[in-house]
Amino acid sequence: MRFDTVIRNATVVTASDSFKSDIGIKDGRIAALALGLTEAGEVIDATGLLALPGGIDSHVHLDQPSGDGIVMADDFDSGTRSAAIGGNSTVLAFCMQEKGQSLREALKVYHAKADDKCHVDVAFHLVITDPTPEVLGQELPALVEDGYTSLKVFMTYEGLRLRDDEILATLDTARRTGALVMVHCENEDAIRYLIGRHEEEGKFAPKFHASTRPVAAEREATHRALSLAEIVDVPIVIVHVSNREAMEEIRRARQRGQKIAGETCPQYLMLTADDLDQEALEGAKYVCSPPPRDKASQDACWEGLEQGVFDLFSSDHCPFRFDDAEGKLNEKGKRHFRWIPNGIPGVGTRLPILFSEGVRKGRIDLNQFVALTATNHAKLYGLYPRKGTIAIGADADIALWDPEKRMTLTNDLLQHGADYTPYEGLAIEGWPVRLLVRGRTIVEDGALTEQERPTGTYLSRGKSSLVR
Ligand code: URP
Ligand code: ZN
Ligand code: ZN
Repeated sequence: MRFDTVIRNATVVTASDSFKSDIGIKDGRIAALALGLTEAGEVIDATGLLALPGGIDSHVHLDQPSGDGIVMADDFDSGTRSAAIGGNSTVLAFCMQEKGQSLREALKVYHAKADDKCHVDVAFHLVITDPTPEVLGQELPALVEDGYTSLKVFMTYEGLRLRDDEILATLDTARRTGALVMVHCENEDAIRYLIGRHEEEGKFAPKFHASTRPVAAEREATHRALSLAEIVDVPIVIVHVSNREAMEEIRRARQRGQKIAGETCPQYLMLTADDLDQEALEGAKYVCSPPPRDKASQDACWEGLEQGVFDLFSSDHCPFRFDDAEGKLNEKGKRHFRWIPNGIPGVGTRLPILFSEGVRKGRIDLNQFVALTATNHAKLYGLYPRKGTIAIGADADIALWDPEKRMTLTNDLLQHGADYTPYEGLAIEGWPVRLLVRGRTIVEDGALTEQERPTGTYLSRGKSSLVR
């Protein structure tokens, strides 16, 4: 067979194996894995490089409305560009239902935002903020059939949170239709009570974002979400877990026999609440929810990754510019932490951070890295085996990594819309030097190679491995 492209002499790594092989690519898919493949239009020499499945970041916020006068720093163009620079070939972004809006209307809006703008492949999770009988009874079942097979519900944020009975009704629909529900677990009433107390005490600085969202508020909501899922008998994903106590709730639910997936994120390995406690509002850069905790919580999250409590390592990329009236330092945000938009950029840094801090420092092996950053995302969100692995028949989504390459993270490198990275100056060992999406080289030497319009496509998805 004559291939379109052959990658020669790579060390191929999947979630289960590592082996020396050439990779033959034809019509955007992997057509052969063998040594000695030569016949090709283009030959890429990967001697000394690792060939990993392109990263799949299944928790990314792009171009979402974020409150009066606040603008998210990335749209689908800049967000997926940064994703590609950081070694990702697919992102799963959120399609946020506005109150009173039908899910179909919301999807129309988000498809229009994404169409022709994506540099990598993209799919949508639905965010359910208004679970009316029509939404749950008619729209959602039809949309799951159409390939929108996951959704997120919030237990916090005024205007977004659902009551427990609404969560139960949503979970019940998910069980009947085979959708997978992601849950943001923080106790909104407790947080609002604590914000009120902080206001009485005149505490308005960014650092108080952390003290109004304590571990107990996350642990309690995690326990409640797991109990609600148990009552309805449906699998769920607990997203962005920040600490040991919430993590132990997942372990315990599994011991009871529940099917649960867990996710953590770079900010819970690399940041602490001390990062919010800085001069001149600098702490606003690190305001996200749940907030970063302490060193012991970082250690717990590493333990969860090492021991398989967490299936997913995602960025929760939710970028706002720092020095900007439409971003972190908006007029109200400068005066009160409550108005600092929640979220930090991370889609470009997720993979290098886990590679450097996890693989190179011996905490996880390469196969775990692939599982946590690509394969498990594909399986849990209905994209496997088309995505998330290197196998014959899979899309040729391949990140070539130089495991020795030393880099220093800077904001410019990441090519996102934010004016900062929380990881400025971090020394990194190991870097994705080339990215192929469906067989086409999208990134080389830290820059996009596309001359024409972006070639990322929308992905309709099957059902989750947790549901089937
Ligand atoms: O602070 C965060 N994480 N913002 C993004 C929205 C969310 O809750 O995932
Ligand atoms: Zn969330
Ligand atoms: Zn999020």
